[in-house]
Amino acid sequence: MCGIVGYTGPRQASRILVEGLKRLEYRGYDSAGIAVLKGGPIAAGERPLVVIKRKGKIAELRKAVPKDLAGSSGIGHTRWATHGSVTDANAHPHTDVSGKIAIVHNGIIENYVPLKEMLEKEGAVFLSETDSEVIAHLVAYHYDGDLESALKAALGHMRGTYGIAAMHADEPGRIVGARNGSPLVLGVGDGEMLLASDVTALLAHTTNVVYLNDGEVVSMTPTDFRISDRDDQAVDPRIDQITWKLGAIEKGRFSCFMEKEIFEQPESIERALTGRLDMEYGSAKLGGLNLAKKDLHAIERVRVIAAGTSWHAGLVGCQLLESVARLPAQAELASELRYRNPVVEAHSLYLAVSQSGETADTLYAMREIQRRGGAVLGICNVVGSTIARESDGGIYVHSGPEIAVASTKAFTSQLAAFYLLTLSLARMHDMSHHEGERFLEELKAAPEAVRRSLQQRDHIQAIAKRYARFHDFLFLGRGLLYPIALEGALKLKEISYIHAEGYASGEIKHGPIALISPETPSLFLVPNDHLREKTITNMKEIKARGGPIIAVAQEGDDLVASIADEYIPVPAVDSLFQPFVMVPPLQLFAYFCALELGRDVDQPRNLAKSVTVE
Ligand code: M6R
Repeated sequence: MCGIVGYTGPRQASRILVEGLKRLEYRGYDSAGIAVLKGGPIAAGERPLVVIKRKGKIAELRKAVPKDLAGSSGIGHTRWATHGSVTDANAHPHTDVSGKIAIVHNGIIENYVPLKEMLEKEGAVFLSETDSEVIAHLVAYHYDGDLESALKAALGHMRGTYGIAAMHADEPGRIVGARNGSPLVLGVGDGEMLLASDVTALLAHTTNVVYLNDGEVVSMTPTDFRISDRDDQAVDPRIDQITWKLGAIEKGRFSCFMEKEIFEQPESIERALTGRLDMEYGSAKLGGLNLAKKDLHAIERVRVIAAGTSWHAGLVGCQLLESVARLPAQAELASELRYRNPVVEAHSLYLAVSQSGETADTLYAMREIQRRGGAVLGICNVVGSTIARESDGGIYVHSGPEIAVASTKAFTSQLAAFYLLTLSLARMHDMSHHEGERFLEELKAAPEAVRRSLQQRDHIQAIAKRYARFHDFLFLGRGLLYPIALEGALKLKEISYIHAEGYASGEIKHGPIALISPETPSLFLVPNDHLREKTITNMKEIKARGGPIIAVAQEGDDLVASIADEYIPVPAVDSLFQPFVMVPPLQLFAYFCALELGRDVDQPRNLAKSVTVE
């Protein structure tokens, strides 16, 4: 969704801002802009703040920014439209009437209508349809020579969520930021400071960062910064180190980030497992859970809260927890749970699963559970993200930065985290040492199995070429492969815009079979256990009605190969671990269909990487 960058220091601000916005492109946006406090002499009548905004891609903004634009402090923004259409005027930064104040804003100001009416009576003239513009006018209304106090006073009027960066022409070199429900992180450089909604915009300049908490305001100059809380008390900052390398947010030899991230999975799963396999006890070491053994032992049921792909990982996780650790487990859509008046039971463990750690639905559902006394652990990728910080402990999945909007490597790393958690809990109950060792052996082999599964690349590309022009697909799986079918359908929808539905194979007779025709292919995930034969029966039912079949099944499954129109073999692994080998072919199928149709794979239309609003 929207992105923020701020810079103050000795260098040319416009370059750093545009480059930072480019790094935030992956979050999804539809327009972009910067405001720079002009350097050098200001001619009479000239505005000291240069504001340049363009709808469309960063490339449009880059073209509009003069290469020699002087000025060493400024703020920038990528907008994902919520209030008002996609126009230059609605893009940020927004300014006040004097043109001396500029602000950028992520989030939503819920009470902007009455605020706008009040400000218009005070003489403010609004130039956009956005909720965000009220912030510029509110700051101007309170400004009395100190931007920080004016912004704090303005915040007092506002209801909603925000990450804000603001500047005033009369306070050169100062940028003030505020956070409430929308992330902001300060980058502490050498003689320069940066502010961003996401560390990827900072990585090229510094690895020293301070994550702001909700309610905090930061005031920064090139050499100094001060953070204060809602009560205006100074906050002792904690400087964290980002461990991600710059190369991790670059495409390298790949044509797009999604392709890179799909092929990174053997390594990213490996990272999720590193240091966590307890070979001596046939168990898993998960130090970050912050739970004593007796508390873990006392857990009677597990509830997962998540959205999208993370929810699919949760669905797999819950089946594992139930069948292996013998704990009742249920995965809930965070967007449903948060408004449902949930019963929070004692001895339940809640798991908030989120790649970004910033998804609003998951975050608010988690807070609701915590407010009712429930303990919530996070399964997150982004270190220092809000969910990671606010949860009571958790598991980092360590997939490294995931830039493509469609989640791939984070999903398989989330799976790895669930296998580890399942093992750890199972070993506290019924699972023997020996069974634990066998489980560990299979888990250790997962990265290599995924590597082999990815070797079907060319075969899948050829299939995608033949099928990319169909309009509707069914993705069908059973047991652990049912959530994988949901994930495959989501991937195809997201990046190719082909309509796809995931179903449990056993459900098709209860309605979806009416859709079957030569125009509606079904993609079957065939398990290698007791559910294989039942799945084959389902395939035959589709075949009898003229529906084309693509089957992903264990290598050497001649029967499946003879029934299906297309057969994608995957490595033979224990059925419990099949999710790992089944998902890469689906990711590749979606990717190659999208390529075939000329879609923007990394930034599909209408989508945002981290959904920080409802
Ligand atoms: O960052 P999160 O894992 O919390 O994000 C949840 C969903 O928004 C996300 O998985 C979304 O469905 C992706 N676009 C899937 O590819």
